[in-house]
Amino acid sequence: MLQIKFSSASLPAGGALAILVPEGEKRSAIFQQADKATNGALTRAAKADDFTGKEGTACVVLAPSDAFERVVLIGIGKLEAVDAWAAEKAGGAAASRLGRDEQATLAVGDLSGVLAAHAALGAVLGAYHFGLYHGAPEASKNHRLAELSVLTDHVDAAEEAWPSLSAVARGVVLTRDLVTEPANVLNPVEFAERATTLKSLGLEVEVLDRAAMEKLGFGALLGVAQGSANEPRTVILRWNGAANKDEAPLAFIGKGVTFDSGGISIKPAAGMEDMKWDMAGAATVTGLLTALAGRKAKVNAVGVVGLVENMVSGTAQRPGDVVRSASGQTIEVLNTDAEGRLVLADILWYARERFAPQIMVDLATLTGAIIISLGHEYAGLFSNNDQLAAGLADAGAFAGEKLWRMPMGKEYDALLKSDIADMKNISGGRAGGSITAAQFLKRFVGETPWAHLDIAGVAWASKAQNGQPKGATGFGVRLLDRFVRDGYEYEPKD
Ligand code: BES
Ligand code: MN
Ligand code: ZN
Repeated sequence: MLQIKFSSASLPAGGALAILVPEGEKRSAIFQQADKATNGALTRAAKADDFTGKEGTACVVLAPSDAFERVVLIGIGKLEAVDAWAAEKAGGAAASRLGRDEQATLAVGDLSGVLAAHAALGAVLGAYHFGLYHGAPEASKNHRLAELSVLTDHVDAAEEAWPSLSAVARGVVLTRDLVTEPANVLNPVEFAERATTLKSLGLEVEVLDRAAMEKLGFGALLGVAQGSANEPRTVILRWNGAANKDEAPLAFIGKGVTFDSGGISIKPAAGMEDMKWDMAGAATVTGLLTALAGRKAKVNAVGVVGLVENMVSGTAQRPGDVVRSASGQTIEVLNTDAEGRLVLADILWYARERFAPQIMVDLATLTGAIIISLGHEYAGLFSNNDQLAAGLADAGAFAGEKLWRMPMGKEYDALLKSDIADMKNISGGRAGGSITAAQFLKRFVGETPWAHLDIAGVAWASKAQNGQPKGATGFGVRLLDRFVRDGYEYEPKD
């Protein structure tokens, strides 16, 4: 992870420098010093490039002097409109353009200390690169940035805000790493082992193997797992940071299908490789708990992730099979590719029964239909509770991880009626596919305030955007961290 150092120093002697430039303001002191040190090259380059500081624009000035290898100007728009998300985007845009030296400098100008820290968070995530399986030559070239010195007039405030944002960065990086790993490496057992290492952060980690899940009656989850040579796991992560350790926790539930071939209802070959990231919900829950533990959040939280591989084999579940879920409700499996809801059915029920949580939020790459509805901008939000839905949507807007609430209702629920069991796992038509999936989940949450985030459209980016590299986004970690922080962490009263 990129190392961050805040300092109030003036212009560095040379190297790679990024400057955040607001629109319609007098140029910052650092800009002016750098401009002077390069004989006016920055002013000339900005003019030649029509760069005015407009949000989302950048001007890269290569070798403006002997000492400076590059100076990157990043437009941040009107200064008074810069919020945390805008600062993160700008930091990411800067870091992604600085990447040839091991050390670089980012000058944030007149941003507050807190926004300087958010710019640093954006830089860490913008510099993210998964290089595990590349040889040395690739790694040596464009991904060497290891240390970023952030120049700000508010060093104390930035340093105060940084440790908790740095913990969030760590969580996002873990989520991205898990999502990016190929399915031959990251099977359910390996995922559970990596989760177990998080004990070092103070998390309690519990792993349920097949026998334990059989005992609990996880017939829906185990039906999905039965075609795979890889053993299934359920992992429970607990962080008890509230003043009252007995306070009911917040529960976060994740779909962790480490590979989704579709099973006997097999998927087409084209694009099937994407299904290595069908465990993004579980990875996000794991990243979130890492962030909460890392910043010692004053909250009780539990993460429950269901880990299975959905494969085709002689032991695989068949279309038409009837399974009994942990809740006792029976399910006719008409399509083995609608497996995420089967996994979630058992772990939602389990989380509710065992922890009696205040709220439950599940995350899942659940349906292709949500991509048809919302594209890649918004994740789908489904809930049985207006207050919970509003809190999540607000946190999403803050974090730049946007949620759009979708409808639910008994007319949709009725589409799940089965002739032979309590319900079937698909509606049988293509209409409203994300909604019927959510209706299915709702049957396993009882009266608990619950929200379901369908992240199929946002967990993976096919191109770099908003200062973030292409690939795994880590969507949901920043959103849920903010949701917890704003809604559930109370300062103890004296
Ligand atoms: N994992 C998929 C959904 C998905 C699709 C995630 C594309 C990310 C990108 C899920 O298990 C699935 O296969 N859903 C089916 C449901 C259908 C059989 C009712 C789908 O969306 O086609
Ligand atoms: Mn599927
Ligand atoms: Zn799936």
